[in-house]
Amino acid sequence: MKLLYEGKAKKVYEVDRDKCLIYFKDTATAFDATKKAEVEGKGVLNNTISSIMFKLLEEKGVKTHFIERVSEREMLVWKAERFDLEVVIRNITAGSICKRLGFREGEKLRKPLVEFFYKNDHLHDPLICVEHAILLRIADKKTLRDIVKIALKVNTILKRFFKSHGLLLVDFKLEFGRLPDGALAVIDEISPDTCRLWDAKTGEKLDKDRFRFDLGDLLEGYRRVLERVQGG
Ligand code: TMP
Ligand code: ASP
Repeated sequence: MKLLYEGKAKKVYEVDRDKCLIYFKDTATAFDATKKAEVEGKGVLNNTISSIMFKLLEEKGVKTHFIERVSEREMLVWKAERFDLEVVIRNITAGSICKRLGFREGEKLRKPLVEFFYKNDHLHDPLICVEHAILLRIADKKTLRDIVKIALKVNTILKRFFKSHGLLLVDFKLEFGRLPDGALAVIDEISPDTCRLWDAKTGEKLDKDRFRFDLGDLLEGYRRVLERVQGG
């Protein structure tokens, strides 16, 4: 199979005109990949957790690129034309919004906040507004409006799901693309690499912040997320 793209945590292969295979690697990176490590087993956990999340979204009527999990580390997906956009949805303050705007960590936002980041390594994924996205021709106004709508719907679904499994969805990142049939869809992955998840009772961080800030064993956090979402 032809390798179409290799990112920090995944490889994407072309299967045929309409489909791709995503391979989840064990590489963990943070802070623009200035911090990097191999964490044996992370890829398996992220593929498994992402597959569960995509299935849930599909069941709830959200279009995604997900077709099926084909092996421990591989997911079959529809080929999508990706928007150069990282869409972050926040329910509770943490991470860059604290640094940028001076929030204390852990403040519940009055309503979910949607932020756009320009997916551009050279520029270090800067925060942008809708007008910037239009000027940069990342997507048109209508598409951006639809993306916000879908992002908020995904947030409602995921927040409720995680809550029912004893986890707080603090914030998360989504990527979007157009499927072969032209539909707007959620793509990439939904895993503890891309979501901040705290234990609802103890507040313990179970996501990639464990790696970013050396808070404890990364895999242990991800394993606990998987156990929870599998109903354990
Ligand atoms: P941030 O607080 O660093 O802006 O991150 C917000 C959320 O987005 C958090 O759940 C982690 C996720 N995220 C990614 O998935 N990829 C990234 O490159 C960054 C910076 C954040
Ligand atoms: N994934 C990004 C990186 O590799 C940033 C992050 O998630 O902290 O640098």
